[in-house]
This record gives sequence, C-alpha cells and structure tokens, in this order.
Amino acid sequence: MDIAIIGVGSRGFNVYGRILSATGGVRISAVCDIDEGALKNAQDKFGVDGGACFADEDKFFAGGKLGDGLVIASMDKDHYRHTIKALDAGYKKILLEKPVSDKPEEIEAIAAAAKNRGADILVCHVLRYTGFYKTIRDIVKSGAIGKVTVINHQENVAYWHFAHSFTRGNWRDENTSAPLLLAKTCHDFDLIYWYADSKCTGAVSYGALSYFRKENAPKDCAARCLDGCKYLQTCPYGVKRLYLDKDTPFKWGIFAAIGKNNPTYEEKVAALKMEDNVYGRCVYLCDNNVADHQSVVMNFENGATAALTVTAFSKDCYRKIHIMGTKGEVYGSDTDKFLVLNVFGAKSKKVKIKSKIAGGHLGGDNGICDTFCKLIRGDAIDPDYLTTIDVTLESHKIIFEAERSRKNAAISND
Ligand SMILES: NC(=O)c1ccc[n+]([C@@H]2O[C@H](COP(=O)([O-])OP(=O)(O)OC[C@H]3O[C@@H](n4cnc5c(N)ncnc54)[C@H](O)[C@@H]3O)[C@@H](O)[C@H]2O)c1
Repeated sequence: MDIAIIGVGSRGFNVYGRILSATGGVRISAVCDIDEGALKNAQDKFGVDGGACFADEDKFFAGGKLGDGLVIASMDKDHYRHTIKALDAGYKKILLEKPVSDKPEEIEAIAAAAKNRGADILVCHVLRYTGFYKTIRDIVKSGAIGKVTVINHQENVAYWHFAHSFTRGNWRDENTSAPLLLAKTCHDFDLIYWYADSKCTGAVSYGALSYFRKENAPKDCAARCLDGCKYLQTCPYGVKRLYLDKDTPFKWGIFAAIGKNNPTYEEKVAALKMEDNVYGRCVYLCDNNVADHQSVVMNFENGATAALTVTAFSKDCYRKIHIMGTKGEVYGSDTDKFLVLNVFGAKSKKVKIKSKIAGGHLGGDNGICDTFCKLIRGDAIDPDYLTTIDVTLESHKIIFEAERSRKNAAISND
C-alpha cells in the first residue's frame, strides 16, 4: 500500500511518516513540503524516490494520485486548500490533520466534495482511537449509566505545553492558526459530541488571555531568555527549564524548537539563540493572542448538557471526564489505567481500560494510522469509531458557536 504525505513537519514526519513507514506492507510513496530540510529528512528516513519529493504543492498535486492514500499534515490554514486539491487530484482516502478549517462553509464544501467523489476523509481526532475513550463510549452505549444527562470535561494543557505551542509557537496567533478551542480542544469537542450522541443546539463561553501578557513580565526580564535574562535559572517557562535541562517536562517540543531530533546541548543553545527562533523568546513578551483558559457550556437536542474547561495552568498534560446518566455515572482521568463506574444501587466498579496501544496521544496516533490503513484496504470498520468529515463538521460547529459567544461576551465587557 502506497501512502503520500503533504507536510512532513512534526506530525507528518515524526508521527504519520514514522508509524506508517513501520507498518507492514506500507510504503511512503511521495512527500511534499516547502521546507527543504524537512523534505530531505523525510526523503532519507522513508526512502522516498527523489522524483517523488516535491517542494511545490501544485507540482505535487499535478501528478494526480501518488498513493492509495494521502496524509495532510500541513498547518491549520492550509488544510482546506490541500484537501480540495487532493480530492481534485483523485485521492479517495485522506487522513486530514485537525482543525479542518475555521470556516464552517469550508468544512461543508469539503464534505460535499468528498461525497460527490466517493472519497473518505478521516480527521485526526486521535483520542477516539484510544482504549480509554473507546471504553467510555462502550460503557455509554451499553446503557449501563442510562440516558446521558451531563458531561463534565476538563482539558489540562500543562504550563510547559501551553508556553511552547500557544505563546511562543505555531498556535500563538489565532489569525494565522486558530483559536484555542479549535487548535487544541477540538479533540475534546469530538469526544463530547460522540458521548452526547446528539446535535448541539447552543454553546456559551467565557475565556481570555489573562497571564501571558507583557504586564505580567518580571521586572527587567530579557526579551530572549538566552540574552542574559536574570530569571533564566528560576523561570518555569524559561528555555533552560523547557529545552535545555535534561529533565525537561517534555521531550517532543525539542524537535519543533531546535529543528532536529536528539540535538546536543550546544546545538540546542545555538538554535535557541538564533534571532528568528520563536521558541527562544520570553513568554510574557511574545506576539500571542490565544486565550490561556476558557470554559464552555453546551446544550444538546436530546436534553443532555455538557461543560468543558481548558486551561494552560496545570503541571501535567491530561484530561478528566465525568459522564452522568439517569442510571449511573462513569468518570476518570485519562492517565489512569481504569475508569470508575457507579451504577446506582450497585457496588462501585473499577473498569480496566480494554486495549492499551502504545505511543503518542495515549496510543491514538497508532490507532488512527491503523484505522487509516484498514480504510484504504477496505476492511470492515464500525463507523461509530470513525472521525469522518461529517462528524467533524458537527463538533467543529460547536466550537464556532462557543467562540462567537466568548467574543460577544468580551465585547460587552469592554
Ligand atoms: N492530531 C493531533 O493530535 C495534532 C497534534 C499536534 C498538531 N496537530 C496538527 O497537525 C498539523 C501540523 O502540525 P505540526 O506540529 O506538524 O506543524 P509543523 O510546522 O511542524 O509541520 C507543518 C509542515 O507543513 C509544511 N508546510 C507548510 N506549508 C506547506 C505547503 N504549502 N505545502 C507543503 N508543506 C507545507 C511546513 O514546512 C512544515 O514542515 C497542524 O494543523 C496541527 O494543528 C495535530
């Protein structure tokens, strides 16, 4: 099976490229990226023929279908354009990174074009492909907790992840990427929509960028951490703590910040000192505008309600979910190996997570790649476990509604 990839950065190279190229019977047949270094890395790592490596998307798509499937792992604002071009080029199986688009009409256009051409688009809402969240779905579907009435969900992004991605990095500016709910929390809306099993009739939201602002910068801090900032040793957000220390709380950020896997200490310092490296900047003095905390309350056609909070301010990166039904409740934290199931009138039960696939996003990265290969092969798959473009249209719509509400509330507070 041949699979092509457009966008071989962090996700395209380190996740989809690596997982798919290591999958039996799969070959990475073509790659496209505007970054020469990224293209060369992918060519070398996946053994792609030089003639199938493209720096220009038009040339890549002009070649028609270059694989049985295509992975689109370019940046947020490119997804719509790349998907339409891919459908025009004849791809029938597409794995598309989230978010699909920040415009409902573009998602509708993709869904309609895919339907017309008989193409399948799987959106990378990877959490649906994990043992933890599938187990919850199976409990809800079994009827054990009765009719779902309330879903409480909390996404703890972690201070270090937030600083990396949403103050310094790719997703700091909602005008060039997307608002926090779309860029980060769209996975959680996919889950809530899945568990509520009903269309959303309304969403209200509050949230703001409260902390990563220049008025909160420590006195006389440097604009770049390695330009002699006097807080370098102590600042939890400084580059020393996040990228240079051996016990950094996150390893995967290094690839994005430094531009290569496993760099030496000297390579890291040199990369972070470069003027154009956004990850070398002080978190209080960046050009960010994305909310650092937000809450949303939702109502669904079947009468269920849901409340979601996303926050930068947690030590670790994890989610907590609590679903309450008319006959019982199920809850847990996704770093645990079990869920608590209370059926009213019966003894409390610990439910072990069914499958424990290894890898990133609780195994969801591997899970979605496996499902994508099955889709290409034409294997039978229960559609309830698929994050299709139609399902994503509904969950993205909740976000658009919530963002509209947050922005209106902010205006009325002014
Ligand atoms: N599913 C998930 O859990 C998850 C997690 C993180 C990021 N993402 C999403 O994945 C996407 C990629 O994120 P990333 O962290 O890999 O970013 P990245 O910047 O590391 O990778 C994007 C790549 O696309 C390339 N690119 C830009 N314009 C292009 C063009 N016109 N044609 C071809 N290539 C082009 C860039 O050079 C870069 O190599 C984003 O949309 C992001 O929101 C999803």
